[in-house]
Amino acid sequence: MNFSGLSPAPAAPVRVEHADLTVVGGGGHVGIPLVLAFAEAGFRVNVHDTDRNVIESLRCGRLPFIELGGEELLARALERKQLVFTSQPSDISPNAPVIITIGTPIDEFLNPLRKVIQDCVDALLPHLIDGQLLVLRSTVFPGTTEWIDEYLQRKGRRLMVAFCPERVVQGQGVKELKETPQIISGTTEDAEHAAARLFSAIARELVRVKPREAEFAKLFNNAYRYIEFAVANQFYLISKMAGLDYRQVAHAMKHNYPRARGIPTPGLAAGPCLFKDTMQLLAFAQNQFSLGNAAMLVNEGLVLHLVDDLDRRFELSRMTVGLLGMAFKAEIDDTRASLSYKFKKALLPLARTVLTTDPFVTSDPELLELNEVIARSDLLVLCAPHRAYRELDFSGKPVLDVWGVLESANVIG
Ligand SMILES: NC(=O)c1ccc[n+]([C@@H]2O[C@H](COP(=O)([O-])OP(=O)(O)OC[C@H]3O[C@@H](n4cnc5c(N)ncnc54)[C@H](O)[C@@H]3O)[C@@H](O)[C@H]2O)c1
Repeated sequence: MNFSGLSPAPAAPVRVEHADLTVVGGGGHVGIPLVLAFAEAGFRVNVHDTDRNVIESLRCGRLPFIELGGEELLARALERKQLVFTSQPSDISPNAPVIITIGTPIDEFLNPLRKVIQDCVDALLPHLIDGQLLVLRSTVFPGTTEWIDEYLQRKGRRLMVAFCPERVVQGQGVKELKETPQIISGTTEDAEHAAARLFSAIARELVRVKPREAEFAKLFNNAYRYIEFAVANQFYLISKMAGLDYRQVAHAMKHNYPRARGIPTPGLAAGPCLFKDTMQLLAFAQNQFSLGNAAMLVNEGLVLHLVDDLDRRFELSRMTVGLLGMAFKAEIDDTRASLSYKFKKALLPLARTVLTTDPFVTSDPELLELNEVIARSDLLVLCAPHRAYRELDFSGKPVLDVWGVLESANVIG
């Protein structure tokens, strides 16, 4: 295996056959920070992605989405000619380790789609050689790593199969990859060892376990976070039912009380990972994951409850409602699985008009400028708590703020 990327970066453009590593899905939210971390460590990286627009954008030095600190690293990697871009499996580097970071969605029955990984491996397989390291980095259903290994063996192939899950927070991967211990596992000792060697180039600390343990660790991490948000959301709803301002209750619970420090603020718990991964666990447990199930009901139900509450308090049919923040969380531009859109959908049949805005999102042609939304709306809803909204003058209009971050006098909880 060639780890010669640890030597000084090459002056001539790297050729694909000289890459030290291939990142499949290298233009995605997990792929890009990983590519940049390895490039920063001196590796020559084959960035492989089927989305040619993303590849073109990266080639030109533009990140396709917000990734803090990423632009600078991308510029440096391009300047040092450490990146080589491919879109066809037949073009990937012939013998460098391969890390798969493609999306692993759930289907309409909330069950995992193992076929996505299988199809990806099938397409790569004719271009991989026996003995090559194949790392799954995408979040996978328990058992997938061993299953892929057996699947390859049934085809008479002998690759080193590893699973090393990604755990960074979206948008902050560059920073967090430096700080987060890397979970390393392999279907054989050799595979685990090779994966550990690879990731030790970018990680401060490695945690070595078996593939199933790693798969569950990743899913439990995400489900736990999802459940934490559900706890806060349920407390918020109960306080509301009691006619209380949850902010006061949260303040009393948390002020200088270490055991409550970790309780998050209530809010729209959305995005492409937490819900999906909790559902993967639910599917594994044959629907006997009651906490995960309850968390889904609370987090997804929060929006419907809030809309229902607004409908009872206001004459929505005569009002224009403005939604602030359509990204799935603060300070990013990603709308995947954003509950802001569920909010919009639930309000559309009730309100006279629904207007939307977001300072970061560029993928939605219906978005309006913030000033226009504030000026035209009778009622505002803080969906994603971007910092830009914190100090705003809402001209005395009521603002629903479930997050509890606005100070304005007309905030409704
Ligand atoms: N987004 C996060 O912050 C985050 C954090 C931890 C783990 N994860 C997990 O990582 C995985 C990837 O998530 P993501 O958010 O980066 O997804 P993404 O959609 O942003 O990126 C996936 C990339 O893979 C590319 N791709 C898809 N199929 C391909 C193929 N066959 N060959 C080459 N490229 C292909 C896509 O074009 C895309 O650019 C998921 O399993 C997710 O659950 C995501």
